[in-house]
Amino acid sequence: MTEPAPSAAHASYQNEIYLHGLEGRVPPFTTDGTALGASARRHLDQGAFGYVAGAAGSGATHRANREAFDRHRLVPRMLTDATHRDLRTEVLGSTLPAPVLLAPVGVQSIVHPDGELATARAAAALGLTTILSTASSHTLEEVAEAAGEDAPRWFQLYWPNDDEVCVSILERARRAGYTTLVVTLDTWTLAWRPQDLDLAYLPFIRGIGTAVPFSDPAFRAGLERPPEEDLAAAVLRWVPMFTGTDKSWDRLPFLRQHWEGPIVLKGIQHPDDARRAADAGMDGIVVSNHGGRQVDGAIASLDALPRVASAVADTGMEVLFDSGVRTGADVLKALALGARAVLLGRPYVYGLAHGGEDGVRHVLRSLLADLDLTLGLSGHRTPGELTPDDLHHR
Ligand SMILES: Cc1cc2nc3c(=O)[nH]c(=O)nc-3n(C[C@H](O)[C@H](O)[C@H](O)COP(=O)(O)O)c2cc1C
Repeated sequence: MTEPAPSAAHASYQNEIYLHGLEGRVPPFTTDGTALGASARRHLDQGAFGYVAGAAGSGATHRANREAFDRHRLVPRMLTDATHRDLRTEVLGSTLPAPVLLAPVGVQSIVHPDGELATARAAAALGLTTILSTASSHTLEEVAEAAGEDAPRWFQLYWPNDDEVCVSILERARRAGYTTLVVTLDTWTLAWRPQDLDLAYLPFIRGIGTAVPFSDPAFRAGLERPPEEDLAAAVLRWVPMFTGTDKSWDRLPFLRQHWEGPIVLKGIQHPDDARRAADAGMDGIVVSNHGGRQVDGAIASLDALPRVASAVADTGMEVLFDSGVRTGADVLKALALGARAVLLGRPYVYGLAHGGEDGVRHVLRSLLADLDLTLGLSGHRTPGELTPDDLHHR
């Protein structure tokens, strides 16, 4: 008998679910990635749900992200002997079990008390890479410990405008085993977000999502009294430090000087910016519009992807993608249009809201199984086989 390919484990979640059905058991909540938001709403208060589900302005870009996926359709191929598949994907020199990473999402404790700890554990159990946000509700050291020593982890930077605090956070991330730095460029200030504004709800000013700076010695050194004694003063120092100031391309060498590992710029939508990232010696980009949460009316991230990917095709820079990924087919479409791997955002947060670590695991296993099955059924054995020719574009 032929050895099953490593990805056989992904599709097996389908069998597991049907076999449980024989004992009268059904999955803990939906297996439909596009229905998770509506389902999570029942578990969350209005403020938390609005913060996760919400978007900038009229929501036009948030909707456009999904519409773009719907406009692109896979063209399946037959009799390709796709029984045994291998989803493993090389990203920045590491082999991932599948072309999927967990996007950096801050303030996860608003949906579940275990927040980022639960997410890190669920991802680690599946060998998936998490990208921890600067706006984490737990310290980066706590999350690293929860994930376990060998768990692959990257750190996302909201670039503080205080260099000492920035360097201190980077140094802590390095010591805690985060290997790649993801620098988010599109959120140097918060967009106009009506769902949050209408409820006057912003987690940071309540001291949520501030564990990384509040535990940082350089940040604390600038306070008269520690955050535990004077929360308002600490918040007033941190919020303007990580929002409100845009940087320019000539500041990137500063990060290179203080970070030895790969650096990935997140929030790229224009081909010229992708080229500039390559010229600046960056190792990768994430083609992302922050899930439609920043520039209302901006291009759908999937529509931006082909031009961005072709602009840097000859540079060797890694192209990652996010914004709107909900299903296995979505992952394949992004790969076909030039992404090496995708970042999953809101769906796993909705899983967290449903059931902490188990909820995240259910969402991740569902996506991986769907991805594995859809890859095979559309006639492919590896994610790298997908090209624009495998898509029909309406
Ligand atoms: C509640 C929430 C919090 C987020 N926090 C961060 C963050 O701290 N840092 C960051 O780079 N991106 C953040 N993002 C954006 C995600 O990394 C990702 O770009 C986006 O969620 C992808 O779109 P999707 O949710 O449609 O998959 C956040 C997104 C959500 C929904």
